[in-house]
Amino acid sequence: MVSEISFGAWAIGGSWGQVSDQEASAALNQAVDSGVNFIDTADVYGDGRSERLIADLKKARREELVVATKAGRRLPRQTIEGYSRENLAGWLEVSLRNLGTETLDLLQLHCPPTELYDRPEVFGILDDFVRAGKIRYYGVSVQKVEEALKAIEYPNVQTVQIIFNCFRQRPADLFFARARQKEVGILARVPLASGLLTGKLRPDSTFAADDHRNFNRHGEAFDVGETFSGVDLQVGLESVEEMRRLLPTGVSMSEFALRWILMFEAVSCAIPGGKRPEQVIENCHASDLPPLNSETMAAVERIYKQKIAPQVHHRW
Ligand SMILES: NC(=O)c1ccc[n+]([C@@H]2O[C@H](COP(=O)([O-])OP(=O)(O)OC[C@H]3O[C@@H](n4cnc5c(N)ncnc54)[C@H](OP(=O)(O)O)[C@@H]3O)[C@@H](O)[C@H]2O)c1
Repeated sequence: MVSEISFGAWAIGGSWGQVSDQEASAALNQAVDSGVNFIDTADVYGDGRSERLIADLKKARREELVVATKAGRRLPRQTIEGYSRENLAGWLEVSLRNLGTETLDLLQLHCPPTELYDRPEVFGILDDFVRAGKIRYYGVSVQKVEEALKAIEYPNVQTVQIIFNCFRQRPADLFFARARQKEVGILARVPLASGLLTGKLRPDSTFAADDHRNFNRHGEAFDVGETFSGVDLQVGLESVEEMRRLLPTGVSMSEFALRWILMFEAVSCAIPGGKRPEQVIENCHASDLPPLNSETMAAVERIYKQKIAPQVHHRW
């Protein structure tokens, strides 16, 4: 059982501009104070920094926390061969050390190549890690719906992490129903479209040189879908303005975007990133809001179909 609004720990690791240890710790502690019991991280976020900050949090707090990490992105080039027993075991050991634990709660393959899902032997290696007590459960983080559908054919894949938000609606079409049938947990990542769906960005917003919203705008460093959900900033901003008109009184754009995700029962949790306690408080507040009505849901779908789908729907 995990909090429906959980915490994504990429931004406190790196690639999002400077976040001090103190700021990161404040955001993490606020998440726990606000009822979050599940944190998503990866071995590569700040080269282990995010995992180490979470280890510090676990030492400082008495609450039970479930931590999901990922492996695979230490490869210099994504190949199937890279997902070898030796490599996976090596990455796993580093994560165990960083997280200060003997067993990982959940290990996710970190957006491996599509063809990996044709390789049962890789999932067999993960089964061996479970038997050896190195990991409790495993899952996958995917880029495409087709990868998600293939992944859940493997019986021991417990979770799928996928981009799902007002600007990325295709997972709800087919995948969610299949995942529910198979009782697979879904982690909705990039729930605020990298901050776009908070409604705070402007056409002239600027980002630090080491923030992926600066250096990965066209997919220069990794899949462009991870930055603003793959939506062109200008088109995204226009769509946010249309969506703003749908906000119930007293509800912020961030809360609205997260509440929209929680309307889908197949979703186990959304994992918004947060750099500051105020952001975390606002994000967690989405859980307390009443459901959105059907007219509002239809309006979000209409905006998506008209403006956003042509940019993303066929791609992921
Ligand atoms: N391949 C993968 O597996 C993969 C890829 C991407 C993400 N993820 C996971 O998914 C998590 C969430 O995705 P994400 O962090 O990329 O994007 P996101 O959650 O859509 O956006 C997070 C960013 O939005 C801003 N923000 C958050 N809450 C806000 C609020 N209430 N008001 C204003 N601004 C707010 C913050 O940045 P600023 O304050 O700087 O604007 C924050 O870093 C990650 O942390 C990571 O755990 C996994």
